[in-house]
Amino acid sequence: MTQGRPLLNRRLAEFGTTIFAEMSALAVRTGSINLGQGFPDTDGPEEIREAAVRALRDGHGNQYPPGPGIPELRTAIADHQRRFRGLAFDPDTEVLVTAGATEAIAAAMLALLEPGDEVIAFEPYYDSYAACIAMAGGVRVPLTLRAPDFRPDLDALRDAVTPRTRLLLLNSPHNPTGMVLTREELSTIAALAVEHDLLVVTDEVYEHLVFEGEHIPLASLPGMRDRTVSISSAGKTFSYTGWKVGWVTAAAPLVAAVRTAKQYLTYVSAGPFQYAIAEALRLPDSYFDSLRTDLRRKRDLLGDGLRAAGFEVHQPQGTYFITTDITSFGEKDAYAFCRALPERCGVVAIPNSVFYDDPDAGRSQVRFTFCKRDDVLHDAVGRLRRLAP
Ligand SMILES: Cc1ncc(COP(=O)(O)O)c(C=O)c1O
Repeated sequence: MTQGRPLLNRRLAEFGTTIFAEMSALAVRTGSINLGQGFPDTDGPEEIREAAVRALRDGHGNQYPPGPGIPELRTAIADHQRRFRGLAFDPDTEVLVTAGATEAIAAAMLALLEPGDEVIAFEPYYDSYAACIAMAGGVRVPLTLRAPDFRPDLDALRDAVTPRTRLLLLNSPHNPTGMVLTREELSTIAALAVEHDLLVVTDEVYEHLVFEGEHIPLASLPGMRDRTVSISSAGKTFSYTGWKVGWVTAAAPLVAAVRTAKQYLTYVSAGPFQYAIAEALRLPDSYFDSLRTDLRRKRDLLGDGLRAAGFEVHQPQGTYFITTDITSFGEKDAYAFCRALPERCGVVAIPNSVFYDDPDAGRSQVRFTFCKRDDVLHDAVGRLRRLAP
C-alpha cells in the first residue's frame, strides 16, 4: 500500500493469480501429471515449425511486422474462413492478427465497451473474460450453464438483456464444459442480438475440435455479419500455443475499432510465426481431420478412465477438456479436491468452481485435459484408479 491505498486497482482487485499458474506450479512441485492447463505435450506439424525456422533465418518478421498482421497471414485467414465456414472477409479491412485469442478478447472489450456497459457471458467463463470485461470497466452478467449437459437457457438469456446490455460474449466449442452450440441455439441468440441491436464477440478457438455435431460460426447467421466479432487462434488448431498467433474477423468498422485498442496493447507480435501460421492454415483437410480423430480417441481414453476411477463424466462434444463431477466420491469442494489430488494420486486437474460467479453452480466440478500423449494419458488413468473405492 502507498497513501493508504491498495496497489492493485479496484477493477482488478478480485483477480489473483490464474488458477492455471497455481495448478501448473503444483504439478511441477509434486512431480504430478499435469492434466490441468490446456497445452499439448507434443508440438504441432514439423513442416510448420520448419516454416518458422525458415522465416527466422531469412529475416522474415524479425522486425516489426505490419500492425494488422502480415498480408500473407491475413489472406490465409480469410481463405480459411471461406474454405471451412463459407464466410468472405476482405484480408485488408476485415482481418486483424493478434497476440493470441487472449489479446483479441482484451482488445475487443477495451474497444467496444463504455464503463458500465453490461456483457452477458456464459459461466463457467474462460478466465480471461471476467478480467478483460473488468479492465474495460464493463459489468459481467452471467448466463449459467448447468450440468449435466450445459445447454444455455435461452429464456434466461432473454431475461438477462437490459437497456444497458452492449454485447454478448460467446464461446463455442465451450471451455471448460465442451458444450457446442447448435444451429437452433445460435439462431435464437442471433435473433435476440438483432432484436436488441447487440454486438456479439464469439471465441471460436476450438473450432476444429468438434467431435459431435458441427461448428457453426455465428457470423454466418442472418443479421450477424455486421455485428459479430469472430475470434480464433492457431494455438489449439496447430498445437503451438506458445506462439500466440490469434486473429479477429469482422466487418471493417468492427475490425477498425478492435485494431485501435490492439495497437496500444502489443502493437504487433510473433513476426516469424505469422509466416508459419500462414502456411499452417493452408494444410490439407487430412490434417484437420486427423487432429479431430486423434483427439476424439484421447477423449474416449481419458473419459473411460475417469469413469472407471469413479468420476461422473460430462461427455464433451468439443474442445480438449472433460468436466467431471466429484460428488460420487462423497466430495463437494472441487478446489480442495484439486489441491489434494497430487498427494492422493499424482495428477493435477482444474476446479471449474473458479470459473463461476455462482459459487454453487460449479462447486463439485473438476476439469481434466486430454491433449496429452497416449502414454501420459494411460499413466494418468492408472494413477486415477487409486481413487476408486
Ligand atoms: C476459450 C479460450 N479462449 C481463448 C484462449 C486463449 O487462446 P490464445 O492462447 O490464442 O491466446 C483459450 C486458451 O486456453 C481458451 O480456452
